[in-house]
Amino acid sequence: MNNIAIFASGNGSNAQNIIEYFNCGTENKGGQKSTGSAKVARVICNRANAYVLERAAKLGVPASYLPKEDLTSNPQPLLDLLERDGIDCIVLAGYLIKIPEELIARYRGKIINIHPALLPAYGGKGMYGNRVHEAVIAAGEKVSGITIHLVDEKYDSGKILFQAECPVMDNDTPDTLAERIHSLEYTHFPHIIEEYIKNNLQ
Ligand code: GRF
Repeated sequence: MNNIAIFASGNGSNAQNIIEYFNCGTENKGGQKSTGSAKVARVICNRANAYVLERAAKLGVPASYLPKEDLTSNPQPLLDLLERDGIDCIVLAGYLIKIPEELIARYRGKIINIHPALLPAYGGKGMYGNRVHEAVIAAGEKVSGITIHLVDEKYDSGKILFQAECPVMDNDTPDTLAERIHSLEYTHFPHIIEEYIKNNLQ
């Protein structure tokens, strides 16, 4: 059994969707079901009042609040916590803090991120949340999508595991585009995580 830790900073709708898939046996939006070979054992969040903490509590997943300053000044306590939980895969689902190098070294090839655009376009420092969708719309793109990729030392540059596209409508606002992108994320993220774990970490 593989243990996943989800890192999230805010709302946590992806975190909830992933927890439901792995821990509750809930069918994914894409119609897939987990084979039960992994579970979410910990949620890490850098904002004390983030809604993801409530979602984790409701779903019975232990959650820890870890402020950015604590993480960046000394990542060792986090490494120790992940070790105690037997975590062997980290999933970033809307996590806005750069991952310290110590963590990347310990979990190389085992940290998966989701980005709400088609990388390498619209990625990099400062490109998160609605800023991404604003840039996509401002550039007059007709297509956007999601990228699921491994995390390395640079922002949004690790190996791409999966991409899916959706149209950008003429009358889209950042919010309407975000909704379409979220729907793609719910459909694909959980089973891509599961597939990656099965093929590479088991
Ligand atoms: C998602 O769109 C994800 O791609 C991005 O941040 C958003 C998080 O949304 N990295 P939520 O917190 O899961 O609702």
